[in-house]
Parts: sequence; structure tokens; C-alpha cells
Amino acid sequence: MAITCPRGTRDLLPGEAVFWQNFKETASRVFGLYGYVPIETPIIEQTELFVRGIGEATDVVSKEMFTAISGANLQTLLDGGKLESRRRLSLRPEGTAGVVRAALQHGLVPQGAPPVKLMYAGPMFRAEQPQEGRQRQFNQVGIECLGADDATIDAEGIVMLMRFFDEIGIPASETRLLVNSMGCANCRPAYRDLVYDYLKQHASQLCDTCLARMEANPLRAFDCKNAACAELMEDAPKITDHLCDDCRSHHDEVLDLVKGTGIDYAEDPSLVRGLDYYTRTVFEVQTGADRAQSAIGGGGRYDRLAEEIGGKALPGFGFALGYERCLLALQARGFELSSPKGCSVFVASATSDVCAAAFELVQMCRDQGVAAELDHQGRSLKSQFKLADKLHADFVAIMGPDELSQGLVKVRNMNSHDEQLVAVSEVAGVLKQLVS
Ligand code: HAM
Repeated sequence: MAITCPRGTRDLLPGEAVFWQNFKETASRVFGLYGYVPIETPIIEQTELFVRGIGEATDVVSKEMFTAISGANLQTLLDGGKLESRRRLSLRPEGTAGVVRAALQHGLVPQGAPPVKLMYAGPMFRAEQPQEGRQRQFNQVGIECLGADDATIDAEGIVMLMRFFDEIGIPASETRLLVNSMGCANCRPAYRDLVYDYLKQHASQLCDTCLARMEANPLRAFDCKNAACAELMEDAPKITDHLCDDCRSHHDEVLDLVKGTGIDYAEDPSLVRGLDYYTRTVFEVQTGADRAQSAIGGGGRYDRLAEEIGGKALPGFGFALGYERCLLALQARGFELSSPKGCSVFVASATSDVCAAAFELVQMCRDQGVAAELDHQGRSLKSQFKLADKLHADFVAIMGPDELSQGLVKVRNMNSHDEQLVAVSEVAGVLKQLVS
């Protein structure tokens, strides 16, 4: 059987690849208005970066990372030896840890400097159970703002994401924006203990996963899809009732600023997100009825991540949106991918002896910046016209032996069917004017 792409991955065929290109360009344009500039980091990083940055107890790190080891290291493992985690590399499951690593490594945020605003777009990898909207390789567009802990950063980030969704055709009115605060190193430990105690009291009602998570990461129980756990967690202590004064006022300021822009949001004290690095603001944007795969984007503040991975204190805020989930949301609203335009001008040869002249003209058009194509398969003139139609050519230049002997080429407008004779020496320039 012919080899297919791995489960949970997909090919972006030309129509979609062009859409993905435009999608990234829209993100660059919108995020550029807010001062974000591009950064590219490697697709593979040291496994330790994700273990320390995202958190060993998270599903993303403990179960979903694709970790690569060299042939030599594989042999060590097969021989029963142990590997240092530093020597392992993993495909990035998300972009934040890599961007923070790069900012620290290259000193992008010197002491006293204004915050650095970075954006990225590209594939992320998680070994999840594939289903619609949940893939093993998926594309994210994300931003990270490093070096400021002001609530204005969080608020403008949330507003910017909603503006982007609007721009690509997912209106804010058709999404749910959920916001919460995860507290900080001062208030979260005590809150975590409260949730732990609550879970312990109700241990008999918990699913096996929550029981297992209880010790390492009790707050993850808020994310459990099991109906009994979800019901139980409705009465669990809420973080927003246990924030310290600083976190409370930071949270209130973020909410006030977002509200001031007219964007609707809902406070959701059960929003905990699946990555351990968050402090204070967390948020998620959802669409559609299916809540499991409904998050089209999310993020928050992570003021301790830089230190967790061995760097200096560097507050940060960011988000990422899932390209494939955005496409699904758009398609649910009737959007259809279109095949890319083949060319503006098709140069047809009436007989085989004018092929060289056609080859020359098509090249002249391209040199003038006009997308031009010709037949490469010896088609009849009639099927060359069909091909020109299929390629959505606006004009066909017909190379006929009689016209050529008089130094002329016939140019047909494919919409109006008007025809005109143009001198061979001028035809590329005329076509350029016609298509522009
Ligand atoms: P995340 O919520 O894990 O956050 O992922 C962001 C978005 O990526 C999700 O809302 C979803 O649209 C998409 N996504 C996640 N997993 C999959 C998957 N398996 N298949 C398809 N789409 C998926 C982060 O990754 C954080 N790094 C965001 C962030 C940036 N926080 C701070 N800065």
C-alpha cells in the first residue's frame, strides 16, 4: 500500500497552504500594530526545557511529548543504561518555553529595557489521540511579551487576539472569552492546599485520573471531562476568592481594561489551563458547542517561567491560537478554501512549430512580473483554452503561424472574449498593463 502521512498529521495542499500563508500575514499585520516582531526558534529543544518550563506533571510533558534520541543513545537504552534528560531532544509541544529560552540566551531584555514583543508561527507536536481539531502536528500562531508585568500588557494581548479573530472572520460575538487568575507564588500554594483538601475529602467520587493527579497537580481536576468530577469541582474552592491583594488588583485592572474596549468576557474560576507555568492572568477563547476541542486560542501570564528554566527573573505574558481549529471554526461558518490562481496570462500555441516563440513570450511575461503559463503536454489549441480556463487565466496570447509571420500575436480577454492584435515586440508590455 502507498505510504500515507502519519496519523494525526495532515498535508496542507496548495489551496490551504496559500490560506495558511495569508493567515500568518494577517497575524503579522495585526500584531505588528501592537509592536510585535517575528522570532523563529528551533522545532527541537532540549527535553529539559519543557520538563522544567511546562512542568513534569502536565499531560503535555508526561504523556504527549515526542522525544528523539540518537541511535547511540537508543542503544544505551536498549542495553539497559540510563540517559540524562539533558541529552534528550524533544519536538516542541508549544512555543513559549523556546521563545523565553531564546530571549534569555541572547539577552533580548536587558535590565531597564522596555518589554520585548515577539511573535511566531509554525508547527507544534503533541502525541495526543487524534480527532477533529486535535492533531499530533498542528500549527500555532503565538506571541510572547517579555519584561513587564503590567496589567496593560495582559489586556492589550487579549484585545489584540480578539481583533485578529475578527479580522480573519470569527467575530468576537460568536466566541466565548473566558478569563481567570491563577494567583502567584504568594497566594497559590495555600489555595492549592485547599483544593487538595477538598479532593481528599471527596476522593471516593473522583475518577482514577483525578485521583492520580491529586498529589502532583490538584488544580488539574478543574479540567476533568468526567461528568461526576466536573459536578464535584463546581463546589470546590475558587481561586478568585483566595487571591492576594496584588493579584486581586492586577486581575481587576485586566478585566476593567478589557471591559473598557467593549469586548465581552466571562470570568471562569475553573479555567486552569494545561501548562504549569501560568501565574495571574489566564484566558481562553472558545467557539462552537463541543467544549473539548473548542479552544481556538489561549494563554496568560507566566512571571516565573524564566527562572524555572534557569534564567533571571523575567515576567512574561503571551498566547497561542490553533490554526487548524480556526479553520474549522471558519468552515463551520461557511468558509471554503479556494484553489490558488494558476496564472494571469496563458500563452497558447496554435501549431507545434510556434512552440519556441510561445516559450520565449511566456518567459518575457514572467520577466515583466506577470504570472504566465503555457502547455507542456502537446495539447490541441482547444484543450489549451480549456487549460487556460482551469488556471483562471485572464488573458490568452495565441501564437498563430500566420499572425507571427506578420510580427503579431492575438490577445484574447477571457472574460469579455474581446480580441486584439498586438506586435510581438510589445505584447509582454501590453499584457503587463492589461493584468495590472
Ligand atoms: P495551548 O492552550 O496548549 O497553549 O495551545 C494554544 C492553542 O493551540 C489551543 O487553544 C488550540 O487552539 C491549539 N492546540 C493545542 N493543542 C492542539 C492539538 N493537539 N491540535 C490542534 N490544535 C491544538 C499554548 O500552547 C501556550 N504556549 C500558549 C501561550 C503562549 N501561553 C503563553 N504564551
